[in-house]
Amino acid sequence: MKLRPAPSTAGDLLSLTGDMIVNRRQFMRYGFNATSGVLASTLGALGFAAILLPPSGGGGGDTSVLYWAKGREDEAWYGAKHLQPMSKSDFEAEAAKSKVGMSGAQGVWNGLPVIVNYVPHSVNSIKPMADNSPRFQEMPGYDIGGNYVAHATEYLLGNPEIFDPSGNLIMIFSRCTHLCCIPGWQLVSNSFTDDNWTPGGGDDGGSKMFCICHSSRFDPTAIEVNRNANRSTGASFEYLGIRRAGGPAPVGLPIIPIIMNGDTIEASSDYTGWLTYCD
Ligand code: FES
Repeated sequence: MKLRPAPSTAGDLLSLTGDMIVNRRQFMRYGFNATSGVLASTLGALGFAAILLPPSGGGGGDTSVLYWAKGREDEAWYGAKHLQPMSKSDFEAEAAKSKVGMSGAQGVWNGLPVIVNYVPHSVNSIKPMADNSPRFQEMPGYDIGGNYVAHATEYLLGNPEIFDPSGNLIMIFSRCTHLCCIPGWQLVSNSFTDDNWTPGGGDDGGSKMFCICHSSRFDPTAIEVNRNANRSTGASFEYLGIRRAGGPAPVGLPIIPIIMNGDTIEASSDYTGWLTYCD
């Protein structure tokens, strides 16, 4: 399976890996573009409005993934770590306080909104599904029309560098595939964000990424191959992502590959073409 090229324009190339060509201006813009009106109203409701970073905010072409708790310093577990690098041990410590052993945090990577989740896959994957113990699930993926795209296991056999479930961490691009708001992780409290989990990537159970604009839900444990398109050009592309569990979002959200540097969570820019759908 080959990735289709992201739409490209003239300019300095930031990434030339595989089939993708993304220039720097475009890369920095994916997180915060012409939908900022919707974006601002969403984030304002969450006390998260200041996510519109200055040009140098949140890194500039580097691999660092930083906590983002602007406006929520007193309530988010990572509030005191705003703009500090994410570490796996932080997620493990927070997960120990969870009923299901999961944790998550909003982040910023190269100016882009992301969510990193810890899922105790390595210990839970050998347990019966009926235990409702969270683990990553590699699933068949379908496009918006219900057409089969590919199975995540098949995809990962050819592209193992994208996601390693044994690492217990997943990083997701946090722009809703509906109208490009920023879904959150437990920023609001409802049945979709409760601290529980059910298998199957369905809409029951909690621990969902939740988009407050129109209530779309995404299951960060359900890994599937999706197909999406660039809004401007209509060019479609396939990507490894997490499942849309419910709401008006047509498809799931793309994974950003994690690179561990000791305990520090970093990320690869090899698949930034997958982040172009709001462009
Ligand atoms: S923008 Fe996320 S549900 Fe509409």
